[in-house]
Amino acid sequence: MPSSSVIPIQSALEIALQRIKANYQTYDLDFPTRGYPAYETAPNDHWVAGFWPGLLWLSYHATQDTALRTQAEALLPSFAERLEKQIDLSHDLGFLYTLSARAAWMLTGDQTARDLGIRAAQALSKRYNPRGNFIQAWGEIGTGPDAGRVIVDCMMNLPLLYWAAEEASERRYYDLARQHAATTLQYLVRADGSTYHTYRFDPHTGQPLAGETRQGFADESLWTRGQAWAIYGFALTAQWTGEAEFLDAARDVAACFLRESPVDKAPLWDLRLPEGAPQYLDSSAGAIAACGLLRLAHLTGEAAYHAQAEILVTTLIAGCMEKNDDRTGLLKYGAQHVTEGLADDYLIYGDYYFLEALLTLTGHAPDFWGSSYE
Ligand code: GLY
Repeated sequence: MPSSSVIPIQSALEIALQRIKANYQTYDLDFPTRGYPAYETAPNDHWVAGFWPGLLWLSYHATQDTALRTQAEALLPSFAERLEKQIDLSHDLGFLYTLSARAAWMLTGDQTARDLGIRAAQALSKRYNPRGNFIQAWGEIGTGPDAGRVIVDCMMNLPLLYWAAEEASERRYYDLARQHAATTLQYLVRADGSTYHTYRFDPHTGQPLAGETRQGFADESLWTRGQAWAIYGFALTAQWTGEAEFLDAARDVAACFLRESPVDKAPLWDLRLPEGAPQYLDSSAGAIAACGLLRLAHLTGEAAYHAQAEILVTTLIAGCMEKNDDRTGLLKYGAQHVTEGLADDYLIYGDYYFLEALLTLTGHAPDFWGSSYE
């Protein structure tokens, strides 16, 4: 079980930055992914590859240590190569290129990185299915068993399109991202503010078929990380579009999360588990939800969202933060895919959003996702 000790948010931030500085060289040009008691690494060929440069860019921004910037920049060519060779490109182009290319451009003005981000947005736009008005999540475009699959996580991939629409004056990117968000709201958000992890449409007619899970306990349960993606994702679409409908959606999914996972406890991996189901935590869902609540606080000016995020981050620090300085991860107890036996790990995206939340709470986060630069 998680051990508990009280560390203030500012001290947790200092520990986290120190740990990244102490360990970043060990990965060379590879990417930490998941694992415990140490991260496993992989080349740039999977959906999580953006989070490591994202962590480096956050850390560079916070410390102004140019060695961290140099390391993040050294990873950029692999993102260019990946796009060119089309290595495992899915809707997660948004995660990948927001935290590598857009982040690099934002913090350094690198025009090559900007152009790479725009090319990635163009590739993402090709996954849009106009019959169903959605971005296809997985698989080859228009074919195979996932041709009609939308997943809630995609809400976090939309900011790359909104940004590129503005940056490259391509209104179409904005329109299809906004339309995907509307489809997600209509079919993946249930009446009580909970979400389906995925939803299947007929890719040829666009006809809605059924909600299904992939990483949750059951189709009608509530996969926690998906709910967290929805909080942050709808808040970001509300910010980029200025539309009240999406802000209301962000409020609704946040209210559901807060009802079913009180912030003084780290969240379980699924919030609607029957008795006897495995009770793993998912600290990454907590970190993502905290960032979403902080975005809602920023958009609405409501202190309650900020307070809930602060309690949640304090809970994660106490119960899930790695306290052993010899270790490389920041947050323990991440659940990548419980039904495939992947739980109780460091997850690179859990670490990314944990650091983003710590920086936001202390007033030092660059805004890689939103429309308002620092
Ligand atoms: N986007 C996949 C996940 O959250 O595991």
